Amino acid sequence: MQKVAKLVWVLALAFIFSLAFAKTSNSECVQCHQKVTPGIVHQFHEGKMGNNAYMPLDCSNCHGAAHHTMDDADKVTFPTPDTCMACHADKVQQFRAGKHDLAWYGMKTQSAWHAQPAEIVKDGYTGCSGCHTIGRKGYIGAEAGNTGPLKYDGGVEMSHYKYGNAQCDTCHTRHTFSKKEAQDPRACSNCHMGFDHPQWEMYMSSKHGIIWAHDGYKGWDQGGRAPTCQTCHMQDGNHNVVTSWGFLGLRLPTKENVLKLADAVKDAGLKANLQKLAAALPSGHYIDLDDDVQWTLDRARILQANEILDENFQPTQRFFQIVVQARAARGPEEFNKLRIKMKNTCQQCHSKSFVDKFFISGDKVVRDADHEFAKAIVAVQGLYKDGILKKPKGWKWAPSVAQYYDNMTPIELDLYLIYMEYRQRAFQGAFHASRDYSHWYGWGPLKEHVNRILYEAKRMREEHNAAK
Ligand code: HEC
Ligand code: HEC
Ligand code: HEC
Ligand code: HEC
Ligand code: HEC
Ligand code: HEC
Ligand code: HEC
Ligand code: HEC
Repeated sequence: MQKVAKLVWVLALAFIFSLAFAKTSNSECVQCHQKVTPGIVHQFHEGKMGNNAYMPLDCSNCHGAAHHTMDDADKVTFPTPDTCMACHADKVQQFRAGKHDLAWYGMKTQSAWHAQPAEIVKDGYTGCSGCHTIGRKGYIGAEAGNTGPLKYDGGVEMSHYKYGNAQCDTCHTRHTFSKKEAQDPRACSNCHMGFDHPQWEMYMSSKHGIIWAHDGYKGWDQGGRAPTCQTCHMQDGNHNVVTSWGFLGLRLPTKENVLKLADAVKDAGLKANLQKLAAALPSGHYIDLDDDVQWTLDRARILQANEILDENFQPTQRFFQIVVQARAARGPEEFNKLRIKMKNTCQQCHSKSFVDKFFISGDKVVRDADHEFAKAIVAVQGLYKDGILKKPKGWKWAPSVAQYYDNMTPIELDLYLIYMEYRQRAFQGAFHASRDYSHWYGWGPLKEHVNRILYEAKRMREEHNAAK
């Protein structure tokens, strides 16, 4: 009798547990897809949405319920963050406020983007578009005459793409959509790696990454000792990502600093142009290391080589697109706010004085790299001015590092390498505490290539003069 009572209790408990845990959907979609794509059903049931105590989601939550048979799969719909919005409004709103959401638009502002085949830059997702798919398609900016905030086309551009509109599945891969996976720095590594933004390699060669791996791939947020990408860039799980310097290590020149430069120059035309530029710029001061006169001039040259300022130092259409609308560079107010937030993150583990010193050194690396780079830009600009180099057909600006590898002379290809590879590594490596990236992959080859350019410019000049 006692045995039977025990069995009843066990069965009752098992029943209660089965209600409370491990609830998975068993809809018609699941039943058929168990045969058609068993891997997807398995992944989905591994995740908290497909395996939910209260109400498991079903495939139809994200794909609609219009398709039922073996041969009407063309009736499915694919989700966008608007689909997730119904249940995760906070995360979607944070994400939309950050730079990831702008990735697609930012990509399309590049001259080089227009010149590559669709499988690389559009729906093939084998190149630029494969990573920049984390951004939302459909933003409209200065290319269409809109110099205000970006507008959204209501889904028109997305409708040209069958796949790749979901954005969120870049860190929470489908169909598990795991939080734990997204908290792992490896979730960032397939995009934040390589040629021009090797943050993964820099992290893994810094003491932070080494400790993370040593501690069994556990970061500060998981009870370990080391910060992860997410500790520093997604504080409190906030999906709004943005840094002070950004990808390109550019910030807006301030009104005050440009006026100081205007005071210092002798050429009356240049002075007037700089005063005009200053009128369009925000006012304020950068913390840690503000621009001096030389740095302001160096950066103006860099902006010229980037098609952002014209030969008279006035803003171009691309200034509105990439700087204002795609938010590639920040003014003093936002820069300082983000910098302080980042420093507070470090100060959970390091002293204020250690952290202050670290950031000033990083800013100085940007300044010093800018100075070297500007020397090379001036040399190549001089070759154009004196007719030694001729502007390629169809190009609006030259020299232009925004044409990337489509530049056609060795000297301009070197200029592009300085910009996209070596200068980036020098300052990004400094900010990620990877000495080898900062120095031997960054600063060292940067100086080497500046010297090559100065030598080559001189040689080209001599050759040109001899032929006259
Ligand atoms: C009778 C079987 C069956 C049922 C029921 C079914 N599917 Fe499918 N589904 C298929 C087949 C077959 C394909 C095509 C697979 C392929 O291309 O390899 C497919 C494809 C899909 C695709 C991918 C479409 C694409 O073009 O990439 C999605 C998403 C999908 N189904 C979702 C659902 C949802 C949601 C339901 C329930 C509302 C559902 N399926 C019900 C058989 C079924
Ligand atoms: C929380 C939303 C969500 C749910 C629920 C969901 N999916 Fe998906 N599914 C996605 C996303 C996101 C994509 C990728 C779409 C893209 O590339 O734009 C996708 C793509 C697919 C694809 C085509 C791409 C591929 O990898 O083959 C299939 C097939 C598919 N889902 C089947 C299913 C099935 C079957 C279920 C239920 C077991 C399901 N999905 C449930 C979000 C969801
Ligand atoms: C119908 C409501 C609903 C929709 C739509 C929805 N989710 Fe969820 N989501 C949930 C629920 C419920 C949970 C489980 C919450 C829990 O158990 O803590 C969840 C959990 C999650 C988690 C955390 C999983 C974990 O491991 O803790 C992620 C990430 C997530 N959803 C992403 C998405 C994405 C991306 C989309 C859109 C493609 C989406 N969700 C659409 C209801 C939804
Ligand atoms: C699918 C590719 C992809 C993944 C995965 C990805 N990112 Fe990004 N990330 C991008 C792209 C592209 C941009 C540039 C967006 C822009 O500014 O237009 C970017 C921008 C950023 C920025 C802003 C830099 C700035 O300009 O201020 C930060 C910070 C960042 N990502 C951190 C992360 C972290 C942390 C992770 C992992 C949790 C991650 N990203 C995962 C592609 C990705
Ligand atoms: C391996 C993935 C990957 C590929 C391929 C890729 N990008 Fe990016 N891109 C990123 C990441 C990650 C960032 C952000 C890096 C950072 O902030 O340091 C980024 C940043 C950018 C930015 C800067 C946005 C800003 O506002 O600061 C532009 C513009 C850009 N990419 C254009 C392109 C173009 C054009 C191509 C192809 C010719 C391309 N990318 C190829 C991952 C990629
Ligand atoms: C750049 C990588 C990245 C992208 C893209 C991303 N997430 Fe997340 N997500 C994370 C990280 C990291 C966490 C864990 C945050 C934490 O530690 O609280 C997270 C957590 C979540 C959670 C769980 C929240 C909780 O507290 O349980 C949900 C829900 C979620 N994300 C939804 C989304 C949605 C919706 C999108 C698309 C708009 C999205 N995520 C895009 C990295 C990302
Ligand atoms: C210890 C904190 C910390 C960790 C860990 C960290 N970063 Fe950063 N990251 C920074 C700082 C500091 C900057 C520069 C901030 C500034 O501009 O003031 C930065 C800048 C960036 C930028 C903008 C361009 C650049 O490189 O300067 C991206 C993108 C980025 N980090 C991505 C990542 C990714 C991806 C990981 C993980 C592989 C990561 N970071 C790990 C602190 C960190
Ligand atoms: C969760 C704790 C934690 C956070 C947050 C953190 N660090 Fe660290 N950091 C460590 C640990 C642990 C070490 C290794 C021990 C040491 O060298 O102090 C370290 C090492 C370093 C080193 C190398 C020191 C050396 O002598 O080789 C630098 C530089 C550094 N951190 C800078 C930063 C900066 C800058 C930030 C913020 C952007 C930051 N850290 C955020 C824990 C942290």
